Amino acid sequence: MSDTPRRRRPATELVHGGITRSQWAETSEALFLTQGYVYANAEEAEARFLGTSPGYQYTRFGNPTVTMFEERMALLEGAEAARATATGMAAVTAALLCQLSAGDHVVAAKALFGSCRYAVEELCPRFGIASTLVDGTDLAQWKAAIRPNTKVLFLESPTNPTLEVYDIAAIAEIAHDAGARLIVDNVFATPCWQSPLALGADVVVYSATKHIDGQGRCLGGVVLSSQKFVDDHLQVFIRQTGPSLSPFNAWVLLKGLETLSLRVEKQTANAARLADVLVGLPGISRVIYPGRADHPQAALVARQMRAGSTLIAFEVAGGKAGAFAFSNALEIVKISNNLGDAKSLITHPATTTHQRLKPEARAELGITDGLQRLSVGLEDIDDLIDDVTQAARAAARR
Ligand SMILES: Cc1ncc(COP(=O)(O)O)c(C=O)c1O
Repeated sequence: MSDTPRRRRPATELVHGGITRSQWAETSEALFLTQGYVYANAEEAEARFLGTSPGYQYTRFGNPTVTMFEERMALLEGAEAARATATGMAAVTAALLCQLSAGDHVVAAKALFGSCRYAVEELCPRFGIASTLVDGTDLAQWKAAIRPNTKVLFLESPTNPTLEVYDIAAIAEIAHDAGARLIVDNVFATPCWQSPLALGADVVVYSATKHIDGQGRCLGGVVLSSQKFVDDHLQVFIRQTGPSLSPFNAWVLLKGLETLSLRVEKQTANAARLADVLVGLPGISRVIYPGRADHPQAALVARQMRAGSTLIAFEVAGGKAGAFAFSNALEIVKISNNLGDAKSLITHPATTTHQRLKPEARAELGITDGLQRLSVGLEDIDDLIDDVTQAARAAARR
């Protein structure tokens, strides 16, 4: 018999992965709502701080409930290690800043979630870290942007909100040829449909606020990577700067993970159906859905993703007025800037998540005034079809 434990399939890890039971052998994960830990004696406290005795010291840098969440995420992602953070943005900034110093250079795709773009375009340069933004679909631009001091390449795929898909394996190769690391924000794909580490990425980040909670309750984030990256860069950054996840939120996220694959499968099936319906509705054009054959990178989607997405982007005729009329006519789908929720949510990126960008930058990314982003939930598909159909008709009559 082999000594190597058999790797269990994701649906099993989502329910059982990472559990450490207390002396009470509870069924559900225990919530260790504590800031710190007590030591049997002063020698033990010293040994914990020296790292010669295992165990926790302070919840800013470690907590048993948070560890269970990290271990479950690592098992799901096929990563050696994970560190949880208070939000998705804390995960993104920790993944970048823990490894970058003044004089380094970052290359990122232009099509990034607004706050991620702020981190690369404005925050990094304030600390002497130069950045270049490229068209993520164009491998020649990634290559041309590389400089001798390039340390990190960063992308999200599919992108927020236009659902462009980037070739993670090819971009990882460009990074590695330059001695740099590739960070992938995998929020839109979810761990269910895309495994960036297996495609060659070095670091994966999530906003756990999205599908991982998936029920609109708490914020969270997670960074997944090799153990060496955690030991050399991430652990000390989190310990000393404190973007840590609260144990309570880790517990909620653990319960969210138990139903992640069920929710993502159903939400994706609903989204695929709704994308097909939207194509035929009055006043709706340019439906972008990674599961459809007319997606601009359909061949790449088939190669690197296991299924489409829970999100759809589409254009409503009449610009901002048309888009607003569509949103305001919806009865079941709610207007919100969040995504990945059990409830279907519609976002008008130009006036919310991507409002900060200059109009020219939005135009370059295809974020027109008529563009809508729809995060599809768990409702009955026929009710969703009825809702978007009556909203499209209302917007067209306007
Ligand atoms: C792609 C992407 N990355 C990162 C974030 C940031 O996550 P959070 O809101 O949890 O900080 C979001 C959403 O807000 C997102 O859509």
